[in-house]
Amino acid sequence: MILVTGGLGYIGSHTIVELLNNGYDVVVLDNLSNTSIDVKDKIKKITGKDFKVYIGDILDKELENKIFKENKIDAVIHFAGLKAVGESSVIPLEYYKNNVEGTLHLLEVMKANNCKSLVFSSSATVYGAQDIQPLKESAPLQDPTNPYGRTKRMIEDILKDLYKSDNSWNIILLRYFNPIGAHQSGLIGEKPNGIPNNLMPYITQTAIGVRDHLNVFGNDYKTHDGTGVRDYIHVVDLARGHVLALNKINKDKKESKGNLDIYNLGTGVGYSVLDIVNTFKKVNNIDVPYVIAPRRAGDIDCCYADPTKAYKELGFKCEKNLSDMCKDSWNFQKNLNEN
Ligand code: WQD
Repeated sequence: MILVTGGLGYIGSHTIVELLNNGYDVVVLDNLSNTSIDVKDKIKKITGKDFKVYIGDILDKELENKIFKENKIDAVIHFAGLKAVGESSVIPLEYYKNNVEGTLHLLEVMKANNCKSLVFSSSATVYGAQDIQPLKESAPLQDPTNPYGRTKRMIEDILKDLYKSDNSWNIILLRYFNPIGAHQSGLIGEKPNGIPNNLMPYITQTAIGVRDHLNVFGNDYKTHDGTGVRDYIHVVDLARGHVLALNKINKDKKESKGNLDIYNLGTGVGYSVLDIVNTFKKVNNIDVPYVIAPRRAGDIDCCYADPTKAYKELGFKCEKNLSDMCKDSWNFQKNLNEN
Protein backbone atom coordinates (compact mmCIF):
# COMPACT_ATOMS: atom_id res chain seq x y z
CA MET A 1 0.00 0.00 0.00
CA ILE A 2 1.37 3.43 -0.94
CA LEU A 3 0.40 6.51 1.08
CA VAL A 4 0.20 9.52 -1.24
CA THR A 5 0.09 12.86 0.58
CA GLY A 6 -1.46 15.61 -1.53
CA GLY A 7 -2.72 12.82 -3.76
CA LEU A 8 -5.74 14.72 -5.10
CA GLY A 9 -3.62 17.61 -6.36
CA TYR A 10 -2.40 18.20 -9.91
CA ILE A 11 0.68 15.95 -9.91
CA GLY A 12 -0.63 13.68 -7.15
CA SER A 13 -3.80 12.74 -9.03
CA HIS A 14 -1.90 11.90 -12.23
CA THR A 15 0.55 9.83 -10.17
CA ILE A 16 -2.28 7.88 -8.53
CA VAL A 17 -3.65 7.02 -11.98
CA GLU A 18 -0.25 5.58 -12.97
CA LEU A 19 0.17 3.78 -9.62
CA LEU A 20 -3.26 2.12 -9.88
CA ASN A 21 -2.64 1.24 -13.54
CA ASN A 22 0.62 -0.43 -12.47
CA GLY A 23 -0.96 -2.60 -9.80
CA TYR A 24 -0.15 -0.55 -6.71
CA ASP A 25 -2.77 -0.02 -3.97
CA VAL A 26 -2.94 3.55 -2.71
CA VAL A 27 -4.37 5.54 0.18
CA VAL A 28 -4.49 9.34 0.11
CA LEU A 29 -4.07 12.08 2.69
CA ASP A 30 -5.15 15.47 1.38
CA ASN A 31 -6.46 18.62 3.11
CA LEU A 32 -8.23 19.71 -0.12
CA SER A 33 -6.66 23.18 0.21
CA ASN A 34 -5.83 23.27 -3.52
CA THR A 35 -8.16 20.62 -4.95
CA SER A 36 -11.60 19.06 -4.39
CA ILE A 37 -12.89 15.61 -3.44
CA ASP A 38 -14.46 15.10 -6.88
CA VAL A 39 -10.94 14.42 -8.23
CA LYS A 40 -11.24 11.04 -6.46
CA ASP A 41 -14.24 10.10 -8.59
CA LYS A 42 -12.43 11.20 -11.75
CA ILE A 43 -9.46 8.97 -10.92
CA LYS A 44 -11.91 6.10 -10.33
CA LYS A 45 -13.54 6.82 -13.70
CA ILE A 46 -10.16 6.76 -15.47
CA THR A 47 -8.80 3.63 -13.75
CA GLY A 48 -11.93 1.74 -12.68
CA LYS A 49 -10.28 1.36 -9.27
CA ASP A 50 -11.24 2.70 -5.86
CA PHE A 51 -9.04 3.88 -2.99
CA LYS A 52 -9.38 5.45 0.45
CA VAL A 53 -9.01 9.20 1.03
CA TYR A 54 -8.33 10.65 4.48
CA ILE A 55 -9.17 14.35 4.48
CA GLY A 56 -6.68 16.19 6.68
CA ASP A 57 -3.33 17.81 7.10
CA ILE A 58 0.26 16.54 7.19
CA LEU A 59 0.57 18.60 10.40
CA ASP A 60 -1.98 16.25 12.05
CA LYS A 61 0.19 13.49 13.57
CA GLU A 62 -2.83 11.82 15.20
CA LEU A 63 -4.50 11.40 11.82
CA GLU A 64 -1.24 10.20 10.25
CA ASN A 65 -0.86 7.57 13.00
CA LYS A 66 -4.46 6.49 12.39
CA ILE A 67 -3.68 6.00 8.69
CA PHE A 68 -0.67 3.81 9.52
CA LYS A 69 -2.67 1.82 12.07
CA GLU A 70 -5.53 1.21 9.63
CA ASN A 71 -3.40 0.46 6.55
CA LYS A 72 -0.20 -1.48 5.90
CA ILE A 73 1.84 1.35 4.37
CA ASP A 74 4.94 0.10 2.51
CA ALA A 75 6.07 3.50 1.17
CA VAL A 76 5.05 7.15 1.04
CA ILE A 77 5.00 9.54 -1.91
CA HIS A 78 4.97 13.02 -0.38
CA PHE A 79 3.42 15.77 -2.56
CA ALA A 80 1.48 17.73 0.06
CA GLY A 81 2.71 21.30 0.37
CA LEU A 82 2.05 24.93 -0.50
CA LYS A 83 3.61 25.66 -3.90
CA ALA A 84 2.94 29.18 -5.18
CA VAL A 85 6.27 30.95 -5.65
CA GLY A 86 4.88 34.49 -5.44
CA GLU A 87 2.57 33.74 -2.49
CA SER A 88 5.48 32.23 -0.53
CA SER A 89 7.11 35.68 -0.30
CA VAL A 90 3.87 37.14 1.07
CA ILE A 91 3.15 34.46 3.73
CA PRO A 92 6.55 32.78 4.39
CA LEU A 93 5.63 31.56 7.90
CA GLU A 94 2.72 29.51 6.52
CA TYR A 95 5.07 27.99 3.93
CA TYR A 96 7.70 27.01 6.51
CA LYS A 97 5.08 25.67 8.95
CA ASN A 98 3.10 23.72 6.40
CA ASN A 99 5.90 22.44 4.17
CA VAL A 100 8.79 21.95 6.60
CA GLU A 101 7.05 21.30 9.93
CA GLY A 102 4.40 19.22 8.15
CA THR A 103 7.10 17.05 6.57
CA LEU A 104 8.80 16.61 9.96
CA HIS A 105 5.51 15.35 11.44
CA LEU A 106 5.08 12.92 8.55
CA LEU A 107 8.64 11.60 8.94
CA GLU A 108 8.21 11.16 12.73
CA VAL A 109 5.06 9.11 12.17
CA MET A 110 6.72 7.06 9.41
CA LYS A 111 9.67 6.31 11.72
CA ALA A 112 7.35 5.41 14.62
CA ASN A 113 5.53 2.96 12.33
CA ASN A 114 8.77 1.58 10.90
CA CYS A 115 8.03 2.81 7.37
CA LYS A 116 11.33 4.05 5.91
CA SER A 117 10.56 4.34 2.19
CA LEU A 118 9.88 7.79 0.78
CA VAL A 119 9.64 9.50 -2.61
CA PHE A 120 9.76 13.28 -2.13
CA SER A 121 8.34 15.88 -4.50
CA SER A 122 11.26 18.28 -4.82
CA SER A 123 11.78 20.94 -7.46
CA ALA A 124 14.34 22.39 -9.87
CA THR A 125 13.90 25.57 -7.89
CA VAL A 126 16.41 24.16 -5.36
CA TYR A 127 19.17 24.77 -7.94
CA GLY A 128 18.67 28.55 -7.77
CA ALA A 129 20.17 30.58 -10.64
CA GLN A 130 22.84 28.49 -12.43
CA ASP A 131 25.17 29.62 -15.23
CA ILE A 132 25.76 26.12 -16.55
CA GLN A 133 22.82 24.48 -18.32
CA PRO A 134 21.55 21.78 -18.64
CA LEU A 135 21.40 21.07 -14.94
CA LYS A 136 22.87 17.90 -13.47
CA GLU A 137 21.95 16.58 -10.02
CA SER A 138 25.58 17.15 -9.02
CA ALA A 139 25.34 20.92 -9.65
CA PRO A 140 26.26 22.86 -6.48
CA LEU A 141 22.96 24.26 -5.20
CA GLN A 142 22.65 28.03 -5.12
CA ASP A 143 20.21 29.92 -2.91
CA PRO A 144 16.64 29.40 -4.11
CA THR A 145 15.08 32.74 -5.07
CA ASN A 146 11.96 32.45 -2.87
CA PRO A 147 10.64 30.94 0.40
CA TYR A 148 8.83 28.16 -1.50
CA GLY A 149 12.12 27.03 -3.03
CA ARG A 150 13.85 27.35 0.34
CA THR A 151 11.28 24.99 1.93
CA LYS A 152 12.09 22.40 -0.76
CA ARG A 153 15.82 22.87 -0.16
CA MET A 154 15.36 22.55 3.64
CA ILE A 155 13.35 19.35 3.26
CA GLU A 156 16.02 17.90 0.97
CA ASP A 157 18.63 18.70 3.65
CA ILE A 158 16.45 17.14 6.38
CA LEU A 159 16.12 13.95 4.33
CA LYS A 160 19.86 13.83 3.63
CA ASP A 161 20.59 14.17 7.38
CA LEU A 162 17.96 11.55 8.20
CA TYR A 163 19.58 9.10 5.78
CA LYS A 164 23.05 9.85 7.21
CA SER A 165 21.70 9.05 10.68
CA ASP A 166 20.03 5.82 9.56
CA ASN A 167 20.97 4.39 6.19
CA SER A 168 18.27 1.77 6.33
CA TRP A 169 15.97 4.43 4.82
CA ASN A 170 15.13 4.32 1.13
CA ILE A 171 14.66 7.90 -0.05
CA ILE A 172 14.34 9.30 -3.55
CA LEU A 173 14.26 13.07 -4.18
CA LEU A 174 12.60 13.91 -7.50
CA ARG A 175 13.45 17.40 -8.77
CA TYR A 176 10.60 18.40 -11.09
CA PHE A 177 11.14 20.95 -13.79
CA ASN A 178 7.97 22.54 -15.19
CA PRO A 179 5.03 20.14 -15.20
CA ILE A 180 2.25 21.02 -17.68
CA GLY A 181 -0.43 19.14 -19.62
CA ALA A 182 -3.21 16.85 -18.42
CA HIS A 183 -4.46 13.28 -18.66
CA GLN A 184 -5.76 12.59 -22.20
CA SER A 185 -9.27 11.99 -20.80
CA GLY A 186 -9.50 15.68 -19.88
CA LEU A 187 -10.94 14.64 -16.50
CA ILE A 188 -7.95 15.71 -14.38
CA GLY A 189 -5.48 18.54 -14.89
CA GLU A 190 -4.06 21.75 -13.44
CA LYS A 191 -6.90 23.73 -11.85
CA PRO A 192 -5.33 26.55 -9.83
CA ASN A 193 -7.45 28.47 -7.31
CA GLY A 194 -7.71 32.14 -8.29
CA ILE A 195 -5.35 33.85 -10.75
CA PRO A 196 -2.85 31.29 -12.11
CA ASN A 197 0.79 31.78 -11.13
CA ASN A 198 2.05 29.31 -13.72
CA LEU A 199 2.29 29.88 -17.45
CA MET A 200 0.17 27.12 -18.98
CA PRO A 201 -3.03 27.58 -16.95
CA TYR A 202 -2.79 31.29 -17.69
CA ILE A 203 -2.49 30.51 -21.41
CA THR A 204 -5.48 28.14 -21.40
CA GLN A 205 -7.62 30.62 -19.41
CA THR A 206 -6.67 33.36 -21.89
CA ALA A 207 -7.47 31.12 -24.86
CA ILE A 208 -10.92 30.29 -23.47
CA GLY A 209 -11.64 33.93 -22.62
CA VAL A 210 -11.48 33.83 -18.82
CA ARG A 211 -8.41 36.16 -18.96
CA ASP A 212 -8.17 39.10 -21.35
CA HIS A 213 -4.53 38.50 -22.34
CA LEU A 214 -1.32 36.84 -21.22
CA ASN A 215 1.45 38.99 -19.74
CA VAL A 216 4.80 37.73 -20.99
CA PHE A 217 7.09 38.60 -18.09
CA GLY A 218 10.07 40.13 -19.86
CA ASN A 219 11.67 39.71 -23.29
CA ASP A 220 15.18 40.87 -22.44
CA TYR A 221 16.52 37.64 -20.96
CA LYS A 222 19.66 36.03 -22.35
CA THR A 223 17.72 33.47 -24.43
CA HIS A 224 17.08 32.87 -28.15
CA ASP A 225 14.04 35.16 -28.20
CA GLY A 226 14.52 37.11 -24.95
CA THR A 227 11.72 35.33 -23.06
CA GLY A 228 12.34 32.92 -20.17
CA VAL A 229 13.36 29.36 -21.02
CA ARG A 230 12.17 26.37 -18.95
CA ASP A 231 12.06 22.59 -19.25
CA TYR A 232 8.37 21.74 -19.65
CA ILE A 233 7.50 18.12 -18.91
CA HIS A 234 4.13 16.43 -19.50
CA VAL A 235 2.52 15.68 -16.13
CA VAL A 236 1.82 12.07 -17.22
CA ASP A 237 5.53 11.52 -17.95
CA LEU A 238 6.28 13.07 -14.58
CA ALA A 239 3.76 10.75 -12.90
CA ARG A 240 5.35 7.71 -14.54
CA GLY A 241 8.67 8.82 -13.08
CA HIS A 242 7.21 8.27 -9.61
CA VAL A 243 6.26 4.68 -10.42
CA LEU A 244 9.81 4.07 -11.64
CA ALA A 245 11.17 5.62 -8.44
CA LEU A 246 9.00 3.30 -6.34
CA ASN A 247 10.13 0.32 -8.43
CA LYS A 248 13.75 1.21 -7.63
CA ILE A 249 12.98 1.47 -3.92
CA ASN A 250 11.31 -1.95 -4.00
CA LYS A 251 14.32 -3.42 -5.80
CA ASP A 252 16.77 -1.90 -3.28
CA LYS A 253 14.67 -3.14 -0.35
CA LYS A 254 14.66 -6.68 -1.77
CA GLU A 255 18.47 -6.46 -1.78
CA SER A 256 18.36 -5.03 1.77
CA LYS A 257 20.00 -1.85 0.46
CA GLY A 258 19.14 1.54 1.95
CA ASN A 259 19.70 4.49 -0.41
CA LEU A 260 19.20 8.19 -0.92
CA ASP A 261 19.04 9.10 -4.63
CA ILE A 262 18.34 12.40 -6.39
CA TYR A 263 16.90 12.58 -9.91
CA ASN A 264 15.94 15.38 -12.29
CA LEU A 265 12.58 14.79 -13.96
CA GLY A 266 12.66 16.90 -17.10
CA THR A 267 12.79 16.41 -20.87
CA GLY A 268 16.27 17.89 -21.32
CA VAL A 269 14.84 20.44 -23.77
CA GLY A 270 14.29 24.12 -22.96
CA TYR A 271 11.45 26.11 -24.50
CA SER A 272 10.84 29.85 -24.19
CA VAL A 273 7.56 31.46 -23.20
CA LEU A 274 6.95 32.46 -26.82
CA ASP A 275 7.80 28.93 -28.00
CA ILE A 276 5.02 27.69 -25.73
CA VAL A 277 2.53 30.37 -26.78
CA ASN A 278 3.17 29.86 -30.49
CA THR A 279 3.02 26.05 -30.26
CA PHE A 280 -0.20 26.25 -28.24
CA LYS A 281 -1.81 28.56 -30.82
CA LYS A 282 -0.70 26.37 -33.73
CA VAL A 283 -1.67 22.92 -32.43
CA ASN A 284 -5.00 24.10 -31.01
CA ASN A 285 -5.76 26.57 -33.78
CA ILE A 286 -6.74 29.22 -31.23
CA ASP A 287 -5.50 32.74 -30.50
CA VAL A 288 -3.69 33.68 -27.28
CA PRO A 289 -3.43 37.47 -27.11
CA TYR A 290 -0.38 38.60 -25.13
CA VAL A 291 1.58 41.70 -24.20
CA ILE A 292 5.22 41.97 -23.21
CA ALA A 293 5.22 43.00 -19.54
CA PRO A 294 8.03 43.76 -17.06
CA ARG A 295 10.06 40.90 -15.65
CA ARG A 296 8.58 39.02 -12.64
CA ALA A 297 10.64 39.21 -9.43
CA GLY A 298 12.60 36.03 -8.75
CA ASP A 299 12.51 34.71 -12.33
CA ILE A 300 15.71 33.38 -13.89
CA ASP A 301 16.70 33.47 -17.58
CA CYS A 302 17.01 29.79 -18.31
CA CYS A 303 16.59 26.42 -16.60
CA TYR A 304 16.45 22.96 -18.13
CA ALA A 305 17.43 19.46 -17.08
CA ASP A 306 20.06 16.92 -17.93
CA PRO A 307 17.80 13.85 -17.42
CA THR A 308 20.55 11.29 -18.09
CA LYS A 309 20.79 9.96 -14.52
CA ALA A 310 17.05 9.21 -14.29
CA TYR A 311 17.22 7.52 -17.68
CA LYS A 312 20.19 5.34 -16.69
CA GLU A 313 19.10 4.43 -13.15
CA LEU A 314 15.30 4.50 -13.32
CA GLY A 315 14.71 3.82 -16.99
CA PHE A 316 12.92 7.22 -17.09
CA LYS A 317 12.23 8.50 -20.63
CA CYS A 318 9.67 11.13 -21.58
CA GLU A 319 7.15 9.85 -24.15
CA LYS A 320 5.11 13.03 -24.71
CA ASN A 321 6.18 16.10 -26.66
CA LEU A 322 5.31 19.80 -26.50
CA SER A 323 2.40 19.37 -28.91
CA ASP A 324 0.86 16.74 -26.58
CA MET A 325 1.35 19.07 -23.61
CA CYS A 326 -0.42 21.93 -25.39
CA LYS A 327 -3.27 19.76 -26.74
CA ASP A 328 -3.91 18.01 -23.42
CA SER A 329 -3.84 21.30 -21.46
CA TRP A 330 -6.36 22.83 -23.84
CA ASN A 331 -8.58 19.72 -23.77
CA PHE A 332 -8.72 19.88 -19.96
CA GLN A 333 -9.54 23.61 -19.96
CA LYS A 334 -12.39 23.07 -22.42
CA ASN A 335 -13.74 20.23 -20.27
CA LEU A 336 -13.58 22.45 -17.19
CA ASN A 337 -15.66 25.09 -18.88
CA GLU A 338 -18.22 22.59 -20.15
CA ASN A 339 -18.82 20.99 -16.74
C1 WQD B 1 7.40 29.76 -16.45
C2 WQD B 1 7.85 30.87 -17.38
C3 WQD B 1 7.75 33.06 -16.40
C4 WQD B 1 3.36 33.16 -16.04
C5 WQD B 1 7.62 27.61 -10.80
C6 WQD B 1 8.30 27.03 -9.59
C7 WQD B 1 8.50 25.56 -9.78
C8 WQD B 1 7.17 24.94 -10.04
C9 WQD B 1 6.64 25.50 -11.35
C10 WQD B 1 5.64 24.32 -8.30
C11 WQD B 1 8.73 31.93 -16.69
C12 WQD B 1 6.78 32.94 -17.55
C13 WQD B 1 4.67 32.77 -16.28
C14 WQD B 1 2.82 34.24 -16.77
C15 WQD B 1 4.89 34.46 -17.98
N1 WQD B 1 6.27 25.24 -8.99
N2 WQD B 1 5.41 33.40 -17.23
N3 WQD B 1 3.61 34.86 -17.71
O1 WQD B 1 8.43 30.07 -12.31
O2 WQD B 1 9.49 28.44 -13.99
O3 WQD B 1 8.49 27.56 -11.89
O4 WQD B 1 6.44 26.91 -11.13
O5 WQD B 1 5.72 23.13 -8.35
O6 WQD B 1 9.04 25.00 -8.61
O7 WQD B 1 9.57 27.64 -9.42
O8 WQD B 1 7.00 28.45 -13.65
O9 WQD B 1 4.97 28.68 -15.03
O10 WQD B 1 5.42 30.42 -13.22
O11 WQD B 1 6.84 30.38 -15.30
O12 WQD B 1 5.59 35.04 -18.84
O13 WQD B 1 1.64 34.68 -16.58
O14 WQD B 1 6.70 31.57 -17.85
O15 WQD B 1 8.40 34.32 -16.40
O16 WQD B 1 9.70 32.35 -17.63
P1 WQD B 1 8.43 28.74 -12.99
P2 WQD B 1 5.96 29.50 -14.27
